[in-house]
Amino acid sequence: MHVIAPSILSADFARLGEEVVNVIAAGADWIHFDVMDNHYVPNLTIGPLICEAIRPLTRAPIDVHLMVKPVDRIVPDFARAGANLITFHPEASEHVDRTLALIRENGCQAGLVFNPATPLEYLDYVMDKLDMILLMSVNPGFGGQTFIPSTLTKLKAARARIDAYERASGRRIRLEVDGGVKVDNIAEIAGAGADTFVAGSAVYGAGRDTDANRYDSIIAALRAQLAVP
Ligand code: DX5
Ligand code: ZN
Repeated sequence: MHVIAPSILSADFARLGEEVVNVIAAGADWIHFDVMDNHYVPNLTIGPLICEAIRPLTRAPIDVHLMVKPVDRIVPDFARAGANLITFHPEASEHVDRTLALIRENGCQAGLVFNPATPLEYLDYVMDKLDMILLMSVNPGFGGQTFIPSTLTKLKAARARIDAYERASGRRIRLEVDGGVKVDNIAEIAGAGADTFVAGSAVYGAGRDTDANRYDSIIAALRAQLAVP
């Protein structure tokens, strides 16, 4: 099943609660929650307090993307704040295996995030501890950047690894893509093997142009592309 996960990084933060509710009412599946620390990435965004504040507003999964270093200290806070999935960048953790275990011990699904130049070899010994693999199709830190085309090749390689693992284990791993996903490239991205699509500026930018901040047509347009065989 395809998952569309709007990134609230591009939402109107003065009306964040409404923006969360409206995007889910319009048919989005998850809320993608970008956490930046002005250390691992050159921007500063939102933390567990905001996660806790939006948690009662929706039953949709909250997909927390940690762009922070160190990672471990903040994991239990996000679990308590209602995160469903927590992903992190392997370069930001001293002990990747331990961080994955920590996320799961705190009751969340766990995932690794790969920057455009980060090799997939980090997957070699941890597939059994992963619920999701997230490939960045931009360098992390900002919304509204352009999709990096080499991500398509990398997606195919990640898909091949996941397929082989799923055949051997019977266990499912999601393949998420984040950065520059739009109506005009989502079909090609899905064709390369992604099943979970983060879209920040594409969704919130388009919805804000409508009278009542409605997101129905942009979510429908993204989904229509995914239905193309
Ligand atoms: C970038 C973030 C993305 C970003 C996506 O560091 O992880 O989630 O918000 O925004 P768009 O869809 O505008 O590229
Ligand atoms: Zn993200």
